[in-house]
Amino acid sequence: MRVVIKNDYEELSRWAADYVVYRINKHKPSPKHLFVLGLPSGSTPLGMFKYLAQYYKEGKVSFANVVFFGMGEYVGIGAGDERGFQYFLWDKFLKYVNIKKEHVYFLNGLTTDFAKECANYEATIQKYGGVDLFIGGIGEDGHIAFNEPYSSLCSRTRVKTLAPSTLKANSRFFDNDISKVPPLVLTIGIATMMDAQEVMIMATGAAKAEAVKHAIEDNITHVWPVSILQQHPHGIIACDKDATSKLSDKTIEYFREIDKNKF
Ligand code: GLP
Repeated sequence: MRVVIKNDYEELSRWAADYVVYRINKHKPSPKHLFVLGLPSGSTPLGMFKYLAQYYKEGKVSFANVVFFGMGEYVGIGAGDERGFQYFLWDKFLKYVNIKKEHVYFLNGLTTDFAKECANYEATIQKYGGVDLFIGGIGEDGHIAFNEPYSSLCSRTRVKTLAPSTLKANSRFFDNDISKVPPLVLTIGIATMMDAQEVMIMATGAAKAEAVKHAIEDNITHVWPVSILQQHPHGIIACDKDATSKLSDKTIEYFREIDKNKF
């Protein structure tokens, strides 16, 4: 596992955006050689999105041959609903770059056939040859995408019930009223994410420190789903200093020492 520690959120956001640009450009995407990117929602990637939009404007990167997959959607929430993840990603990022609409995929929260929707999503990812880079945020309880604690570490895209802590955290998008947060979501599975060539999990702030500790220093367990990253051949945890506040000095020193290269 690679751990990148930046001093603050701004530095972390810039590094993550630089890394995405580096990976896309290294791939040399073309219509026959698309780059496939998995994207999280949540507030953590907002700074990275800002830099990515800026780099696009400056001509440092093109998204014309990049395919996007979202990680999840609330059941009952459609594409145009501003409380949904699809709307969020268009509003905060996709509309600012030269993405092609036909290259953007989200789970449809309005489906009535969950199993079919989820199987199609997995099949669509396969059709593109899998994901090159999956970027994820992390819940305070260690969830990735919407794979809550105790999710199967072999899970695939499916319908999931949200944990009370996630309902509470996400109530900020629903008038701070937990009862308004849809209790069910469609989410990619942990195995879906682990199939990607590379997975980068971003973490910012002290509230994520416990989850970061479990991800890096503790055993792999479904109690802290993010810990599965230890099994990935190309897993990166990119975090700011506050998110490392529960790591031992030895761990921090080690990763600071070895991670001298920009990429
Ligand atoms: C949500 C999302 C995750 C996200 C996480 C953290 O529940 N399903 O994809 O990573 O919460 O969100 P934030 O970055 O706002 O802390």
